[in-house]
Amino acid sequence: MDRKIGSKEFFLVKDSNMRDYIYYICCGNDYLGKCIFSKTKNEIFIKYITIFVHYRGNKLMPIFYDMLEKIFIDLKCTTVMLMAEERTEKYGKLEQLYKSIGFIPIKYHDAYNGDYPIRHIKMVKYLFVKSKL
Ligand SMILES: CC(C)(COP(=O)(O)OP(=O)(O)OC[C@H]1O[C@@H](n2cnc3c(N)ncnc32)[C@H](O)[C@@H]1OP(=O)(O)O)[C@@H](O)C(=O)NCCC(=O)NCCS
Repeated sequence: MDRKIGSKEFFLVKDSNMRDYIYYICCGNDYLGKCIFSKTKNEIFIKYITIFVHYRGNKLMPIFYDMLEKIFIDLKCTTVMLMAEERTEKYGKLEQLYKSIGFIPIKYHDAYNGDYPIRHIKMVKYLFVKSKL
């Protein structure tokens, strides 16, 4: 599950929780980001994914997601769902980020989170689990 990029070695740390799966992406002693997801049958729902603020802007999210996807495949899941919460002032950026890692938008909904306008984008990615035949 480890991932070496240049001189940096990234690895995942699992947090135990009764209901959800919680994983951190780490490098050395640093925790760089966090993902919370749930699983029902063969479907993963990503409830929350973040790169902690000091580590943003280094394209870590695709690396993190790629490591997580290997776990989804090990869990025999074929569908990954998420609800992106895109800030309207950065229109299209988050959607593009998820598209770049293979997600497809299936539903859009404009909203307001109390502080600023947002766009909810329901997104899906289908995984192709290798058959043993
Ligand atoms: C989304 C996230 C994981 C990406 O991390 P990253 O790989 O380091 O990439 P960046 O933070 O540089 O983000 C890539 C681009 O998306 C933009 N972006 C990030 N979050 C965004 C959001 N919620 N809405 C709109 N644009 C967003 C960034 O501003 C950046 O655009 P820029 O290069 O023009 O500045 C990270 O920005 C994050 O944790 N954001 C806060 C939590 C969040 O919004 N999670 C997604 C909820 S579904």
